Amino acid sequence: MKFLKYLLLFLVVQLSAQQGGMWIPSLLEGMNETEMQSLGSHLSAKDIYDVNHSSLKDAIVHFNGGCTSEIISEKGLLLTNHHCGYGAIQSHSSLEHDYLKDGFWAEKLSLELPNKGMVATLIVRIEDITDQVLQQIPDTLSIEERMKMIDQNIANAQKNVKKETWQESRVKSMYDGNQYMLFVTETFKDIRLVGAPPTSIGKFGSDTDNWMWPRHTGDFSLFRIYADKNNRPAEYSQENIPYKPKHFLPISLDGVSENDFTLVFGFPGRTSEYLPAVAIDQLVHTINPPKIEIREEALKIVDQYMRKDDKIKIQYASKYASIANYWKKWIGENQGLKKTNAIAKKKALEASFQEQVRNKDEYADLLNTFEQLYAEIDTVALARAYWSEIVYRNIELLNASIRLYGFERRILKNPDSFEEERDKMIKSYQGFYKNYNAEVDQDVFEKLMHMYQKKSPASYLPSTLKDADINVLSNEIYRESKLTNLKGAQSLFEGPREDVIKKINADKGYSFGKGLIETYYQRIEPRYNKLNLQIKENQKVYMKALIETFPEERFFPDANSTLRVTYGKVSGYSPTDAVYYQPVSYLKGVMEKYKPGDYEFDVPEKLKALYQQKDYGIYGDNGKMPVNFIGTNHTTGGNSGSPVIDAHGNLIGLNFDRVWEGTMSDYYYDPDICRNIMVDLRYVLFIIDKFAGNQRIIDELKLVHPKKG
Ligand code: ARG
Ligand code: ASP
Repeated sequence: MKFLKYLLLFLVVQLSAQQGGMWIPSLLEGMNETEMQSLGSHLSAKDIYDVNHSSLKDAIVHFNGGCTSEIISEKGLLLTNHHCGYGAIQSHSSLEHDYLKDGFWAEKLSLELPNKGMVATLIVRIEDITDQVLQQIPDTLSIEERMKMIDQNIANAQKNVKKETWQESRVKSMYDGNQYMLFVTETFKDIRLVGAPPTSIGKFGSDTDNWMWPRHTGDFSLFRIYADKNNRPAEYSQENIPYKPKHFLPISLDGVSENDFTLVFGFPGRTSEYLPAVAIDQLVHTINPPKIEIREEALKIVDQYMRKDDKIKIQYASKYASIANYWKKWIGENQGLKKTNAIAKKKALEASFQEQVRNKDEYADLLNTFEQLYAEIDTVALARAYWSEIVYRNIELLNASIRLYGFERRILKNPDSFEEERDKMIKSYQGFYKNYNAEVDQDVFEKLMHMYQKKSPASYLPSTLKDADINVLSNEIYRESKLTNLKGAQSLFEGPREDVIKKINADKGYSFGKGLIETYYQRIEPRYNKLNLQIKENQKVYMKALIETFPEERFFPDANSTLRVTYGKVSGYSPTDAVYYQPVSYLKGVMEKYKPGDYEFDVPEKLKALYQQKDYGIYGDNGKMPVNFIGTNHTTGGNSGSPVIDAHGNLIGLNFDRVWEGTMSDYYYDPDICRNIMVDLRYVLFIIDKFAGNQRIIDELKLVHPKKG
């Protein structure tokens, strides 16, 4: 018993000792400021975030909703990842100008390429409006009623906030609904492509190296924010001029050494660090394994076709990469959660928690409630995972059916919208079928439907699937359905509304899909949402209880796509017994991985020549060219493109990935093996200057030597 007590004490203390955390930039004073300084930072909380003066936050930009970018010149030059700019680079590419393959470098402002629909958002101000949102909400109301009142309070706060006409405001909940923050933002809509290296640099190592260290990828691209003549957001116009920022990041030429302080500033998407052990158990043992298995089977099939057929390779490259990205992540995540004993550690923490709250009525039952709710949601959560991976994500004909289902709903509800909706559908299908091959899809269908029928919870399968002979069904569907090609799909929309409704419902593919889709909307989703709402409500109280029970702990709010600061230091790690990974990789490693003609590991001639001549200019480090480095910064999806900032506020790196052993950091951060992966900014400059010869961009930047005084 005594041993257990010491063990618990040790675990709790250890929890405090770990860094990690994604902190709200307006709340850094106190613990974070002190901790950063103890790690070697010379920055004050106000250097990072200040409302009245320019600060680092004025250079941090949410890039098109999903990634981060930073301003690196007084002319609104934006740096982000190659994989964040990928869609834009691809959309400007053709057979004559293949910018993915060859790279793109605008020689002057007028040659920078506009991107329809692309946006870049800056944070003007962050306000804590918790009191306003949570005021006067009686505990006696039901969850639904309370949520309604909260939404109303949020809407009022947004309406009443002081802001300029060209600014927006958004409210986000923190700590599972225990705190509410309001963000005043500015969204720029004229964002132009300035430069990108060839894929053989920007995506070097591709899927094989993805989520891995050692890494050698120049994952960057350059854009520019354009504004109207008053420096305000405006739609694209030739009259627009480069945006003049309140702050831009100077770039350090002095590089990094092990243990140097690093700060990553960006928009992490989502983490779930405070789930109970029972939730992690469900993730590791129930939810992740079938998702991994489904994607593995689909990827195997698509890969075989891609290797045989160049057209299919182009059609499926981007889909393959995105399916492979999370497939690989989940494998690493499961291994990491097991290896670090995350479940046992959470259980130990919970035992200590329970001990302390056993006499508090409002908290004493929280863990029991979790046990019950997670047991209840188990089957439907599994059914939901199968549905979303098989029906929604991996069988494309069924995905096409989901789109058609939405269309049918909308025109039934609102008959007048028929023509408009039909045109939208045809447009969406044109994009869809450009990258569709029915033969590939049929193979995936057969493989995954067998799995669905055998392994997904039977209580959530429609009878059309339960009793079906999959091979017969598949042949029928892919022979007869109009949804196997664009022409057929378009023919479904010919004629008046009533005919269209009849035709789509007579389609073999759609009618089968519709059975699965309705099962989801009528039985899986409502039950899942109902239980999930209760889980969330319990999580909200649990979060509050954790903070009260362990006042010495550092609790940061889970990531939710809002601006955050995370910090740590440059550091190697030991992935397995007797192996130690150094924190910095060099161009030499690119050459070691080089496989002529291989699409993942080819190296451009020019880069080989620069390597052979050791022509690194002012960017090399004692005769070597640094490429990537790793650190203990706690990051997640959405942090891609985030600036890595040194102790003085200069840019030293560009975040783009994490190491495989540490991808479980979204649920459990372990400082021993969680590392983020960054491009060394000197490699970015070397590529722009020596490889691409784009001097005009170098001339725009502010290069500094903080270490040399
Ligand atoms: N794993 C990184 C992140 O989640 C990079 C993904 C892009 N690269 C790739 N090879 N698919 O998003
Ligand atoms: N690669 C991720 C991104 O695109 C970053 C990560 O998950 O570490 O945001």
